[in-house]
Amino acid sequence: MTTEETTQVATEPLGDWRRDTNCGVPRLEHVGREFTAMGWVATRRDHGGIVFIDLRDRTGILQVVFDPDDSPDAHRRAHGLRSEWVIAVRGRIAARPAETVNPDLPTGQVELRVQELRVLGSSRALPFALDDDDQTNESVRLKHRYLDLRRPRLTHNLLSRHRATSAVRRYLDEQGFVDLETPILTRSTPEGARDYLVPSRVNPGSVYALPQSPQIFKQILMVAGFERYYQVCRCFRDEDLRADRQPEFTQIDLEMSFVGQEDVLRLTEGLLVAGASAIGAPPPETPFPRMTYHEATTRFGTDRPDTRFGLELVELSDLLRETKARILAEVVARGGIVSGIVADDGARLSRRELDELVAWVQTLGAGGLAWIRANEDGWQSPLAKFFDEGERERICERTGLRVGGVLFLVAGPRKHAQSVLGQLRLRLAQMLGKIPEGRWNYLWVTEFPLLEENAEAKRLVAVHHPFTAPFEEDLDKLESAPESVRALAYDVVLNGTELGGGSIRIHRPEVQARVFRALGIDPEQQREQFGFLLDALSFGAPPHGGLALGLDRLCMLWLGESSIRDVIAFPKTQRAADPMSDAPAPPAPGQLRDLGLRPI
Ligand code: AMO
Repeated sequence: MTTEETTQVATEPLGDWRRDTNCGVPRLEHVGREFTAMGWVATRRDHGGIVFIDLRDRTGILQVVFDPDDSPDAHRRAHGLRSEWVIAVRGRIAARPAETVNPDLPTGQVELRVQELRVLGSSRALPFALDDDDQTNESVRLKHRYLDLRRPRLTHNLLSRHRATSAVRRYLDEQGFVDLETPILTRSTPEGARDYLVPSRVNPGSVYALPQSPQIFKQILMVAGFERYYQVCRCFRDEDLRADRQPEFTQIDLEMSFVGQEDVLRLTEGLLVAGASAIGAPPPETPFPRMTYHEATTRFGTDRPDTRFGLELVELSDLLRETKARILAEVVARGGIVSGIVADDGARLSRRELDELVAWVQTLGAGGLAWIRANEDGWQSPLAKFFDEGERERICERTGLRVGGVLFLVAGPRKHAQSVLGQLRLRLAQMLGKIPEGRWNYLWVTEFPLLEENAEAKRLVAVHHPFTAPFEEDLDKLESAPESVRALAYDVVLNGTELGGGSIRIHRPEVQARVFRALGIDPEQQREQFGFLLDALSFGAPPHGGLALGLDRLCMLWLGESSIRDVIAFPKTQRAADPMSDAPAPPAPGQLRDLGLRPI
């Protein structure tokens, strides 16, 4: 758009006019009342010499009518109004004639008959239509986010998000929590992602890290004696983005002293009831069902199971140890597993769809996917010839495979095979239309392992973070069998999305030092990276624990949105950019020099 396109209009000052109604308010009971309304011109229609405007503010739409009989001057000027101009109108509320009542609009039975008009601001021609069906590409809409946010859906989302956040704050205030702020310019906080770094001008060569979470600070606030902390806080993680991830996002972060796992879980359930009710989602039933990490990964192939549908994993390793299908038997012999999923009505899938699934599974890095289709006249499968009658019977008995069904098999190292089947399960549920609408399956996953092998780094890493307490009864295995140690950690999951996670923390410095050692962090590194935490823990630390919920994700799910960007005022694109402010941008001349940095 060029500046020539700018509409030059004489606008008027607000002067002493003050608004005394919002657009979404007037009803039949207000007929005859005089009101001043202000807002944006959503649409303008000229009908038989009368001008109708849908006037919009954040509360809704009000029809305003410019009739020459009411005010010849306002009527004359109304012809010049254009979309998204900002106007103020004074007039009287009237009932609409029966044939023009709009049942879809809360104010649809009335209209404001204008006596006076003030044009407060004009608008250039819009780069895209402000209706929710507009297909304009997202980066154009993000560039003009202030316009995009005027769409009723996005306005509604952000107002709803505000209601949920306020309700959560109220709930936590009532529960005795204190809202405390923690630093944004800080040290690296290990949550498993890359840090955003900020160079320090006054300490050349040194950097701050933006917090991936306030984890260490909130623990230190417990040592300081605040007992119950919360913060609705921004966190920063430089990681690959997806529909439910942003580089900066908001957590509802909390920490409590003198508590065990049960206390945190119960408190969080209450918080989710408060938030869901305020935003207009069905309040969850409490207590939420619980599942151990072991059960979740064995039955659903993931630590965030979507329990709205079946398609559960069934392990077959013991049945296939001796099978002539060598490709499966060899995996079992090497210590791997063969596990499968039965889709009862899988025979609906065409051969082409099955082949596509096989190709897709290969992109996940599995050895492969085998399928067995139970037809009226027997099994159809690339592996069918290898299975004898007895094996077939045992497989059917174990898996429940019946005519019309398809059994999908994956063989490989346990974790990998389960994860592939977990992803296949979701894909099958979508393909076969098995995900019911309107179900809200909240779930706690508990008893996570404390540590796991990181294949790339070839060392143990913390499954949650290094400050998570081990089960007391597993502590003596920390050195001898570290991967078998369970953690007092928990995640809350909704319909297969991780909403939040937390743990009871280590409050004894000697246990923290042992966990650091198990993670391969030697005493020198411990002091260098976490000395301040270890120091704090050595000055009278209470037992404590907490959790953080992803506020953006919560709002996305509660509002039925498929992208986290639709519940954030100024989100970033997939490339972590903001097209509106054009961030990130090259530094201005001299900035790097001031920071003691050289351009690359
Ligand atoms: P965790 O790393 O599990 O825990 O984060 C908590 C929740 O934050 C949300 N979340 C995100 N949301 C949007 N974009 C992202 N990039 C993103 N990353 C995480 C998720 C997640 O469940 N300090 C611990 C909490 C604790 O132990 O108390 C922590 O940060 O919904």
